[in-house]
Amino acid sequence: MQILVNEHAGALLDDRAERLGDDVELVRLTVDGRLLVDGCERTRADVAPEVAFASAHVFTDGSGPEWLALLDGLDSLRWLQSPAAGHLDFYDALLARGVRVTGAHVNAVPIAEYVMGAVLANAQRVGEWADARTERAWRPHQFSEIAGTTWLIVGTGAIGSAVAARARAFGAHVIGARRHPTGTEPVHEMLDPAELHGVRGQSVLGRVDVVVLAAPATPQTIGLVDEAFLAAMKPGSVLVNIARGALVDEGALLASLDRGHLGRAILDVFATEPLPADSPLWEHPGVVLTPHSSAGGTGRHARAAELFLDNLARFRAGQPLPHEFGSSSQPEPQPGAPVATRFSVLDEIETEARRRLDADVWDFIDGGSGDESTLAANRSAFARITFRPRLLTGAPPPETTTSFLGVATATPLLVAPFAGDSLLHADGYRAVIAAAARVGTVAIVPEVTAEPLEVLARADDRAGDRADDRADDRAGAIFQLSLRHPDERLVELLERVADAGFSAVCVTADAPVVGVRRRDRRNRFNGAARLTLGNFPPVDGNAPALAGAGHTREPMSWARLGEVMATTRLPFAVKGVLTAPDARAALDIGAAGVYVSNHGGRQLDGAPATLDRLSEIVDEVGDACEVAFDGGVRSGADAVMALALGARVVLVGRPVAWGLAVAGADGVARVLEILDHELRTTMALLGVADLASLDRSVLQSAPSLGPASTDEGLST
Ligand SMILES: Cc1cc2nc3c(=O)[nH]c(=O)nc-3n(C[C@H](O)[C@H](O)[C@H](O)COP(=O)(O)O)c2cc1C
Repeated sequence: MQILVNEHAGALLDDRAERLGDDVELVRLTVDGRLLVDGCERTRADVAPEVAFASAHVFTDGSGPEWLALLDGLDSLRWLQSPAAGHLDFYDALLARGVRVTGAHVNAVPIAEYVMGAVLANAQRVGEWADARTERAWRPHQFSEIAGTTWLIVGTGAIGSAVAARARAFGAHVIGARRHPTGTEPVHEMLDPAELHGVRGQSVLGRVDVVVLAAPATPQTIGLVDEAFLAAMKPGSVLVNIARGALVDEGALLASLDRGHLGRAILDVFATEPLPADSPLWEHPGVVLTPHSSAGGTGRHARAAELFLDNLARFRAGQPLPHEFGSSSQPEPQPGAPVATRFSVLDEIETEARRRLDADVWDFIDGGSGDESTLAANRSAFARITFRPRLLTGAPPPETTTSFLGVATATPLLVAPFAGDSLLHADGYRAVIAAAARVGTVAIVPEVTAEPLEVLARADDRAGDRADDRADDRAGAIFQLSLRHPDERLVELLERVADAGFSAVCVTADAPVVGVRRRDRRNRFNGAARLTLGNFPPVDGNAPALAGAGHTREPMSWARLGEVMATTRLPFAVKGVLTAPDARAALDIGAAGVYVSNHGGRQLDGAPATLDRLSEIVDEVGDACEVAFDGGVRSGADAVMALALGARVVLVGRPVAWGLAVAGADGVARVLEILDHELRTTMALLGVADLASLDRSVLQSAPSLGPASTDEGLST
C-alpha cells in the first residue's frame, strides 16, 4: 500500500515505522515540491497512493498548493486523514469523488494550555513584571487568583472539556454550555446554550469571571457574543475566543472595552484572518491577541501521527473511522413517519421533546434544585465506573425477567413516577401506563396525575395493545404516595389505592417540602397552578393546596410512617433513600423495598449521586428486601451498572417524560424499547446470561488503576 505524506508527516511516520507495517511505501511530497519514494524521485504517473496523510506543516511550509493539486489528480486515493478538526472547502470535491476524509481532533491539550496561560498571564498582570524590571523598580505587585473564580465554557466538546478540567484544577467553579451534553463534561453545572440570551443565561453571564468560547461556528453560534451578550457579562470579566472569529461581533466587543465594561478580550481567532493591518484590535489596550496559534503546542504533530496510525489500522480492518466527514448521509427522518423510524437513539427524542415543549415546561422537566449539582452528579457518577467484560462465556441471549414488589416484568427497567403528565401530552399517564405494559414493564403511577387513580388503575386493562407474548408478565400496578397530607388523609388515600386495584405502594420520603427549583422560580412556573390534580378535585371551588406541602401537619417520622403503612395490606417501598441507616429504618417499619433515589436531583441539592450510594444500601438491606434505583439513567449500559451494583430494578424518569411529550404512548414505548435493547446488548457483550449473574465482578473503577482492582472486579 502506498501512502502519500507531506515531508514532515513522513518524518513523523519514520519515527513510528514499526506501526506502519512492512507492506507500506511512503510517497513523500517534499517542501520544494518533489515526489520521493525510498529517496528516489518519481512523477505523479509513477505513484498510486490509496491513503494520504498530511501534518499541519502543510498549512505553513509552502507545500499546501502542491499538496492540494496532488490530491485533486489522484484517482487511486480512497482516504485522506487531515490534520485539521473542522471542515475545509476542498473536502467537498474529494467527498464527491467517493474519497473518505477524516478530521483530526488533537488540539485539545495545546488549546487548553493556551487558554490557561493567557488567563493566568492576565490575572497575574505579567506585562507589569517586565516594566518593573526595566525600571529596576522594587515594586511588589498583587494579582488576582483563579481559585474561586467562575468560568463559563461555551462548547464543552474535547477542547472545552480540556479547558474545564484545567480550570477546575485551579479551583475555579466551571459552568459548561453544550447543545447535546453527554453528562460526562467535567463541569460543575451545565447550561443549555439556547438559554444564553434568556433569563437564566443573563443571570449566569452576570456572575461569570471568564467566558471561554470553544464552540464550532454554526448558525446558532455565529454572532453569539453580541451587544446584549457583552452587556450581560459581569463588569471587568474576561472573554477568551479560541473558537472562530465569527462567534464575536468585533464592533460590539470594542465598544464594550471602550466603555470599560469588558475587562479583557483574549483573542486567537478573528472574523478576517490574517487580521488586517488596520484593524483597531491590534492596538486596543484591552485586547490580548495571537495569530490563530492556540493549537501550536509541541505535542500536536506527534498526536496527529498517532491518530493517523490508529485510523490506518481501522481503515485496513474495514472499521468505521472517527470524525469522518459526510458519513451521516442518512435521509432525515420525516416528522410524520412512525416513531420507531424517526427515533433510533434517546437523544433524538430528547431534542424533539425540547423543541416541542414551551421553555418553562421543559425547564420543569429537565431542571433540578439549587445549583443542580446533584442533578449533574447523578450523570457523572456513571463515568467513574467501567465494565470488565469476560469473553466467550458461552452465555445464551440474556434473560431479563424479574419483579418488583410482586409485580412481574419482562425487563428490570421500570418507569419512575413523575408529576406533570398533562403538561406533556393530552393522554397523560394513561399513555405512560399503556406504553410500559406494551414493552412488558410497569410505570409507577404518581399521586399527581391529571386523571384520578381509579381511572389509571384500569388504564392498563384498556390498553389492549400489549404484546401477546408478554400479556401474562404483569400482575399488578404500583401507586406512588407523597407524604404531604395529614395522617387520616394518607390512610384514606391508601384505602382508595387498594380499592382501585393497585397491588403495591411506593412512598416518596424525600419531599417533605418542594426543593428550590431555581429554573421554575425564574420562569415564574407555578406548579400548584399548572399541574392538574386528578386525585384531589377542588373542594367548594378551592383548588387543593400543593404549595403548602410540608406545612399542614406535624413533621413526619419513621414511627408515624410505620403506623400509617400498617393500615394497608399492600407491600410498599420507601423512595428517596440515600443512606444505610435510612434503608434499615425503612426495613424496620416493614418496607418490602428500598428505593435509592434523590428525586432526580430535584430536592436536596448537594445530595450525593445515587450510583455512589447504591452499594452501601445493597450491603445493608439487599438480602432482606428489594432495592430499586433511579437517577441519571440514560442508557442500557447505565442500567446494567446499577444492576451490577445490586439494584433489583432500575427506573427512568425524564427520558420517559421526553417520550410522552414527543408521541404519547408510542414515544414512551420507543424510549423503553431503546433502553431495553441497549441493556440486553450490554449484557450480551459482558457475557452474562441473566440478571442474577450481573454482579460487581463485571465492574471496575474508571480508569483502571491496575491489576489489583481489575482481577476481582469492584469490591465496594
Ligand atoms: C418532571 C418530574 C416530576 C417528578 N415528580 C415526582 C413525583 O411526583 N413523585 C416522585 O416520587 N418522584 C417524582 N420525580 C422523580 C422521579 O420519580 C425520579 O426519581 C427521577 O426522575 C429519576 O431521575 P431521572 O429523571 O434522571 O431518571 C419527578 C421527576 C421529574 C423529572
